[in-house]
Amino acid sequence: MNCYSRIIGTGSYFPSKVLTNKDIEKFVDTSDEWIVTRTGIKERRISEDESTSEMAYRASLSAIETAGISKNEIDGIVVATCTPDSLVPSTACHLQGKLGIKGPFAFDINAACSGFIYALAIGDSLIKNNLARNILIVGAERLSSILNWKDRSTCVLLGDGAGAVILSKSDRPGIRSILLHANGEHTDLLICKAGGSSFLAKYKELNIEDHLFSMKGNEVFKIAVRAMKDAAVTAVEKSGLSFNDIDYFIPHQANLRIIDAAAKRLKLSDDKVIITLDKFGNTSAASIPTALDIAVKSGKIKKGNNVVSAAFGGGLTWGSTVFTF
Ligand code: ACO
Repeated sequence: MNCYSRIIGTGSYFPSKVLTNKDIEKFVDTSDEWIVTRTGIKERRISEDESTSEMAYRASLSAIETAGISKNEIDGIVVATCTPDSLVPSTACHLQGKLGIKGPFAFDINAACSGFIYALAIGDSLIKNNLARNILIVGAERLSSILNWKDRSTCVLLGDGAGAVILSKSDRPGIRSILLHANGEHTDLLICKAGGSSFLAKYKELNIEDHLFSMKGNEVFKIAVRAMKDAAVTAVEKSGLSFNDIDYFIPHQANLRIIDAAAKRLKLSDDKVIITLDKFGNTSAASIPTALDIAVKSGKIKKGNNVVSAAFGGGLTWGSTVFTF
């Protein structure tokens, strides 16, 4: 019997507080017009008191329900995040505790905005190697916790949220191709410097900006356009499907201009491209699983549809996948 992994359930969760571009205009030197033209973002959600694992928990409950399995059938949890609840223990362990299931493996991975595709690759391999039957894969971020509201070039871009899928063993594909890449020459382009072991907290010298997100946006932009386009095309070529077989493109939701360039290269019309950044901004590792869930629950993506997805983020990292839903 052939062994594949397949997404059998999806879920997403966003905090209720909406922050529009107009709201941001009140305390940042920016404008709705600049943000919409340069990025496509109109509003985003901001967590007031919900942790990354809390949002992950809510998205996971929805994914488990739509998958039609019991939470006790989950063999493992992988959480992609760059805003974990704590350095130790992992957000995945916090999530497992909230779900009330003891035993399944649980760990985090950090590949910034590409995290969900990296986590999917790990889940796919574990299933194909018979180490698990059902894996809960989550992309969850509380990016507002590292936002620098004094830096207008980044604070208008990001938002909070969580998306989850149940990836299960199947005799039909499923995940058809996955590509993962990184280039550590560019670690400085997108960084949250403090909080790790190379930059120790010294109370007297504490500089809050070191703990916040910073990005050389236009340098990232140039690399992102090429990497997203190439990764998406290669994922289709390696999937065994033709470009005409692709029903939908779920890009990482960073910037409409990057998405348009990638969609053009894939020769996909606008109605085949899933866009959520207008409402939720860039939610990093959460952007692809939330967009998938929204497209599924709205009836756009249906069982049997072929989807190509590509992401790009800090590291620099990038990746792509083609799967049959
Ligand atoms: N409001 C008004 N003006 C602004 C703002 C703002 N919010 N931000 C920057 N500007 C100004 C700049 O100061 C600059 O002014 P100047 O020309 O007088 O110096 C001007 O706008 C142009 O700035 P650029 O940075 O060149 O603008 P650009 O068109 O490149 O857009 C953006 C910036 C949106 C950040 C874009 O570069 C981008 O999307 N980059 C890629 C982001 C990405 O994909 N990141 C990876 C994922 S994120 C992750 O991994 C967590």
